[in-house]
Amino acid sequence: MNVLYSADQIAARVTELGAEITEHYHGIDEPIVLVGVLRGSYVFMADLARHIPRPLEVDFLSASSYGDATVSSGEVKLKTDLREDIAGRHVLVVEDIVDTGHTLAKLRAVLMERNPASLKFVSLLDKPSRRENSERADWLGFTIDDLFVVGYGLDAAGLDRNLPYVGVKSFD
Ligand code: IMP
Repeated sequence: MNVLYSADQIAARVTELGAEITEHYHGIDEPIVLVGVLRGSYVFMADLARHIPRPLEVDFLSASSYGDATVSSGEVKLKTDLREDIAGRHVLVVEDIVDTGHTLAKLRAVLMERNPASLKFVSLLDKPSRRENSERADWLGFTIDDLFVVGYGLDAAGLDRNLPYVGVKSFD
């Protein structure tokens, strides 16, 4: 496996993101809601939450993924919904990677309908060269080329999520 970002590099970047996010919500007394997009964001979410030293709650949803394919169908469905009502809440969605941008667009539309006080997105990774719309996360860990990556929560057909680093998957 070709290591793109080591565990140490990721930890350093997650610490920085946590600090920027904490600063952004400074002055807001009520708990913010971290929304993890299952399953790819679970490792990032767990680490990031521990670098946001302020009151927060966590909730999760899942969107239809690629299944076992490595290309997006473009049609995204909400598969598992949040447990809590987010009306009037400050919501931060935690994504693993923004690729075509279809998932982010769908989540933005669905969650905005619920009238949150604010809605922001943070993604560990971004593949801007693959974007099919104008979506962008508010905070990004790393910007990468058009590579299929695994590890630190990201999978290839369900596997490799437990790698402690982000690596490039080769399919030969
Ligand atoms: P989008 O809707 O095309 O932006 O894709 C979002 C989802 O596709 C991500 O949340 C990932 O689950 C998956 N995905 C996109 N690129 C990769 C990759 O390189 N490795 C693993 N999963 C990926």
